Amino acid sequence: MADHVYISDIARYEGQEVLLKGWLYNKRSSGKLHFLQVRDGTGVIQGVVFQGDVTPDAFERAGHVLQESSILVTGVVRADKRSPIGFEVGVKDLEIVHLAQDYPITPKEHGTAFLMDHRHLWLRSSRQHAILRVRGEIVQACRDYFNDRGFTLVDAPIFTPAACEGTTNLFETTYFEEKAYLTQSGQLYMEAAAMALGKVYCFGPTFRAEKSKTRRHLTEFWMIEPEVAYLDLAGDLDLAEDFVAYVVGRVVERRRPELQALERDISRLEAVKKPFPRISYSDAVDILKGKGVAFTWGDDLGGDEETVLAEAFDRPVMVHRYPAAIKAFYMKSDPDDPRLALCVDVLAPEGYGEIIGGGQREDSLETLESRISEHNLPREAFAWYLDLRRYGSVPHAGFGMGIERTVAWICGLKHVRETIPFPRMLQRLYP
Ligand code: 4AD
Ligand code: MG
Repeated sequence: MADHVYISDIARYEGQEVLLKGWLYNKRSSGKLHFLQVRDGTGVIQGVVFQGDVTPDAFERAGHVLQESSILVTGVVRADKRSPIGFEVGVKDLEIVHLAQDYPITPKEHGTAFLMDHRHLWLRSSRQHAILRVRGEIVQACRDYFNDRGFTLVDAPIFTPAACEGTTNLFETTYFEEKAYLTQSGQLYMEAAAMALGKVYCFGPTFRAEKSKTRRHLTEFWMIEPEVAYLDLAGDLDLAEDFVAYVVGRVVERRRPELQALERDISRLEAVKKPFPRISYSDAVDILKGKGVAFTWGDDLGGDEETVLAEAFDRPVMVHRYPAAIKAFYMKSDPDDPRLALCVDVLAPEGYGEIIGGGQREDSLETLESRISEHNLPREAFAWYLDLRRYGSVPHAGFGMGIERTVAWICGLKHVRETIPFPRMLQRLYP
C-alpha cells in the first residue's frame, strides 16, 4: 500500500503513488468521470476517478460517496496547471471510512445564524481554515516576540477575587463559600510578576459580561498582556508599536496564501510600518470636531468615533492621555495635567477600532488607596495589590492586546465571531 501523505506536502510526490486520508469536500461527476475535492486539514486537492482506471466497485463508491464522508484515496500525483495547488491525483482506489449523512452545510449560501449553530461543522470550510491558520500564526508571533526579547511567560489566574476593568461587566461565580469572578485581565497579576521578573507577559482567556451586541465584543476572548518594570508611558508606546508592526509583518510573510484566500487587501497590511502616528485624546477630539462629529471633551471614544479617527491614517494610530475619569482606577495620572491618565489605546485602521489598551500604572500607595475608595472597590481584595506599592514600588507600564480583534483586522473580517473557533457572545453559548 502507498504511503500516507499530507496534501500540503504533495509537491514532493509528483509521479508517485500516495495514500490520502481525508474527507470529501465536494464532488462533480460526468459520465465516466468523478472529480472529488479531497481535503485533509492541510489542503484540498482534486482526485480524478476515471472509470477505466479503477475497479467497478471503486467507481461505484466514488459515485455514491457524499459530502464530508471520510475517505482513503490512493492515486498517482500529477502536475496540473489548472489546480490552485498545481497538482491533482489520478485515483486508483477509493475506500469509504464512514459514509456521511446529508451534510447540512452545502456549497450554497447559508445565513449567519445557521452557520453559527453549525460552527462545529463550519470549521471544515476552507475560509474558516484560513482564518484559524492566521489566528495560529498571530498567537505564535505574539509569543515569539516576547520570548525573543527576554520576557518571561507568567500565567495569570482565571478565578479572581476582584475586578480589574470595572464592575459592570463582571462574570460572577460561586467559589465554595465565597464569590469569585472570571478574570477580565491578567494585568494586576502581571504587575506583581514584573516586580519579581522585570519583563513578563501573560496570554490567556479573559471574560467580560458584555451586554452589548456589537461586531467587536465577545464575552470570552484571548488577550496577550506584557508588563515591564521601570517603563514609562513613552516606552510603552514604543513597545506597542514595535510589537504590532512585528505581528502584522510576520503574518504577511508567512500566511500570504491564507490572506489571499480571504481576499484580504495585503497592501493595507504592508503599510503597517513604524512609526505609527501618536495623538493625544485632546488631538483626537479636535480631529473629530474637524470632521463634523458632535463630540464633547470628556466622553469616551465609541466604535464610531474610533472608525472616523482611524480613517485619517493608513496605519494604526496610538491615542494617549484620555481623561482619567473614563479610565480604570489603576492608571497613573499625568503629572502635567492631573485630569489626564497616562494611558494609550491603539486603534487599528479600516474601522477595526481599539485593539490595544494599556498605559503606565499608579505607583504611589497613597494615590492608589484613594482611587480604590473613589471607585468603591473592596479594599480587602486589593490588599495584595497595594503591597506592590509598599515594597520597592517603581514606575511600570504594560498593555493588553485582544487577539480576536487583531485577527478580525488582519484577516479583514466584519465581525469577531469568525475569529475564534467557538465564539461566546451575549446570545451564543452553543455549540
Ligand atoms: O482596554 P482593555 O479593557 O484593557 C485591559 O484589560 C488592560 N487591563 C490590559 C493591560 O493593560 N494589561 O482591553 C484590552 C484589549 C482591547 O483593546 C481589545 O482588543 C480587547 O482587549 N477586548 C475585547 N475583545 C473582544 N471582546 C471584548 N469584549 C473585549 N474587551 C476588550
Ligand atoms: Mg480599552
